[in-house]
Amino acid sequence: MVLSLGFQLGYSRSFFLLKTFLSAVRFERLRRAHCGQTEMTDRNDIDKGLTDYGDPDFASYLRRSFAKSMGYSSDMLRRPIIGIATSYSGFNNCHRQTPELVESVKRGVVAAGGLPLEFPTVSLGEVFLHPTSMMFRNLMSMDVEEMIRAQPMSGVVLIGGCDKTVPAQLMGAISAGLPAIQLVAGPMMTGRYRAERLGACTDCRRYWARYRSGETSDSEIQDIEGNLAVTAGTCAVMGTASTMACIAEALGMSLPGSAAIPAVHADRLRQGEATGVQAVRLAQSGTDPTQIVTRESIENAIRVLLAIGGSTNGVIHLAAIAGRVGLTLDLRHLNELSESTPVVVNLKPVGEYYMEDFHAAGGVPAVLQELKSTLHLNCRTVSGKTLGEHIEEPPKFVDRRVIHTIGTPIRRTGGLLALFGNIAPNGSLIKCAAADERLFEHVGRAVVFNDLADVNARIDDPDLDVAAEDVLVLQNAGAVAAGMPEAGYLPIPSKLAARGVKDMVRISDARMSGTAFGTIILHVSPESAVGGPLGSIRTGDKIRLSVKERSIDVLIPEEELEKRRRESPPRQKPRRGYAKLYIDSVLGPELGCDFEFLRKAQPDC
Ligand code: FES
Repeated sequence: MVLSLGFQLGYSRSFFLLKTFLSAVRFERLRRAHCGQTEMTDRNDIDKGLTDYGDPDFASYLRRSFAKSMGYSSDMLRRPIIGIATSYSGFNNCHRQTPELVESVKRGVVAAGGLPLEFPTVSLGEVFLHPTSMMFRNLMSMDVEEMIRAQPMSGVVLIGGCDKTVPAQLMGAISAGLPAIQLVAGPMMTGRYRAERLGACTDCRRYWARYRSGETSDSEIQDIEGNLAVTAGTCAVMGTASTMACIAEALGMSLPGSAAIPAVHADRLRQGEATGVQAVRLAQSGTDPTQIVTRESIENAIRVLLAIGGSTNGVIHLAAIAGRVGLTLDLRHLNELSESTPVVVNLKPVGEYYMEDFHAAGGVPAVLQELKSTLHLNCRTVSGKTLGEHIEEPPKFVDRRVIHTIGTPIRRTGGLLALFGNIAPNGSLIKCAAADERLFEHVGRAVVFNDLADVNARIDDPDLDVAAEDVLVLQNAGAVAAGMPEAGYLPIPSKLAARGVKDMVRISDARMSGTAFGTIILHVSPESAVGGPLGSIRTGDKIRLSVKERSIDVLIPEEELEKRRRESPPRQKPRRGYAKLYIDSVLGPELGCDFEFLRKAQPDC
């Protein structure tokens, strides 16, 4: 009681003093206005989006007071605020260098007259998340969007890198509608094992496949484990992280030439500084991502995705990014672009080099130069220039071992293709550039695995009834069933691997790591867990793949497929938390696996 009374008296006195102070503020403001002086509460960024107390002056005063507790002067608090969205985490090896990168951005922001304020968001370290990082991409995008919107800033630098972080940041920033500029972590450098260069993670998979077939010993695989990922940064090949970095640059959302700079290269820090400077200018111009991410810039990004032999995941993320500006990425249009875009980048898993070589060879600007005649050159970019202005001058040097000309490409067309048919009425995807062309026209017997647990239980069973010409089918690995893990790269059954089988046709509603390779059909939609035909395939059914016809079919009558679908038991759903929100709201891969309520409603493209 005494304490409570004391608190009330203390509170009343504070409240009285506060009221007196605010009256003085109002008086001072009137006096200054009368004398033509600047108001105390000029609309600086620090006063944007004030906390609701029912008294904006109080909210402004309180915020400034608390901001000053961090040591900022009044002069600094009058500057335009540039938020720095970071996703540093002890569970994200790829972002290990983020603190140094943040400092470089801050340097640039301050030099350009802004006040940099960093803030953390969800981080998605690809290999540390269960069941899969993909399930949390939308959660991160919501975090990024809401924190940009809720906090006072006039622009934001997005620092990400690992696979899902860049798309999550772009999606969130587009929806927040504030000037935003992407800065990626940059790729790892390669390691060495004996005389061989190794890079995560194509070489991880190659050596694991050799280990499974008995070609690599226990002690060798342990030595290799310590030499695959040897620096900070994202995977060293043209995996999903590298693909998304290139896509961000092609979209015009990051500075030219920034995508491929290795994480540990000093140029990466210089790029951070330049990004900080440009973030202030971009904020002053008021150019927001919806003016940069357009139908045309998305088409440019698809061209680049195809030309670099990029990850299949890039298609899902671009579909989600398109959805945030009210566009739908049409998979048949993807095929048209694929048919007229050569693969020109010779990087693993499609070719032989690594991201550090790509950077030294000329990076994304050199690829854009090759594609120039097919690009929309008038697209705006975060630099303030158009894409065309950036590539007006050809690069001074291009290493043609790594970046080919369009006249002498790695592959003439079709790096990625969408396949349709009675297995995938809404589409599926194959990365032709990383597949065995001998399997492109193929009829084989289905060997079905009901889910990932079934794969784990039986794939290496010596009694598994499977032959090299069979088609491995994985069901229930889509977004609703399992968060769409990167499980589409089904291992070759041990008994076949031991006989030297390196590739087989594999089909699933899962995804595949951008670092993987094989004749693998992914993203089958609708997925089996929501009644998609994939779930009705049984072992022994005949499956026909025709890349030429862009088709994937199971050779049984439609009535039989439908009968089997009706017999499928209903699935249990999570009842609470983010898992429930995810299952209730996630869309198919053709719509980027975004949540319905996060897309912007607009016409199709
Ligand atoms: Fe982060 Fe590969 S694990 S990019």
